[in-house]
Amino acid sequence: MSTPRPPAATRRSPTRGRAFRARDGRLYRLRAIHPSDVPALQRAFQRLDPEQVRQRTFHRINELSLEAATRFATVDPAVGAAYVVLDEDGEIRGEARFFVDAVGSGAEFAVITDPTLAGHGLGRALMHRLVREARQRGVASLWGTVLAQNTQMLEFSRRLGATREASEDEPGVVRVRFDLSHRLRRR
Ligand SMILES: CC(C)(COP(=O)(O)OP(=O)(O)OC[C@H]1O[C@@H](n2cnc3c(N)ncnc32)[C@H](O)[C@@H]1OP(=O)(O)O)[C@@H](O)C(=O)NCCC(=O)NCCS
Repeated sequence: MSTPRPPAATRRSPTRGRAFRARDGRLYRLRAIHPSDVPALQRAFQRLDPEQVRQRTFHRINELSLEAATRFATVDPAVGAAYVVLDEDGEIRGEARFFVDAVGSGAEFAVITDPTLAGHGLGRALMHRLVREARQRGVASLWGTVLAQNTQMLEFSRRLGATREASEDEPGVVRVRFDLSHRLRRR
């Protein structure tokens, strides 16, 4: 009996993506996430600081399980998209994703970058990629749920041109929103 083959999207190699030079002068590559990224995602998770993980996931998690990493690395293109930034050694230094909401005109996004590379432009590069992809799909706005004390993310979003609104049903949480009819604010 033959072994079932994984779906075509899983068999294909990851694309090489786009190379760019960050503010630290080093070369990075930005590409769509791929199922083969699971071990690199787990390693990248170990480099995050616990507070950053809480801000991104709203939970305290010590390690990214194989199951969770597999879920992160396998995105159904019908409902979302996810990208990673890799350094010259192929290590993941940033990740961002969106999921189109039920109505279809908006999408929830999330982004995280390696804390040792904060301020080097990796988050900005990832947001540009998300916005480009979301626009191509006809998404009108990207919104993110952010803890009110997450000044890092709030300031990052403000710099890129997002508006901010309190979440009515979740105290302590803020929504940031990028209107995709406008460009992201430049530096
Ligand atoms: C928020 C986060 C993604 C920013 O990533 P980053 O790679 O450091 O961001 P960049 O270097 O691309 O910075 C982009 C802009 O935001 C500004 N910025 C980033 N962090 C900032 C901070 N802590 N305070 C002030 N400004 C900040 C930068 O100055 C930069 O401005 P410029 O491009 O106009 O010069 C990163 O800090 C992170 O991973 N935070 C934890 C995860 C998280 O909270 N995710 C939110 C869930 S949606």
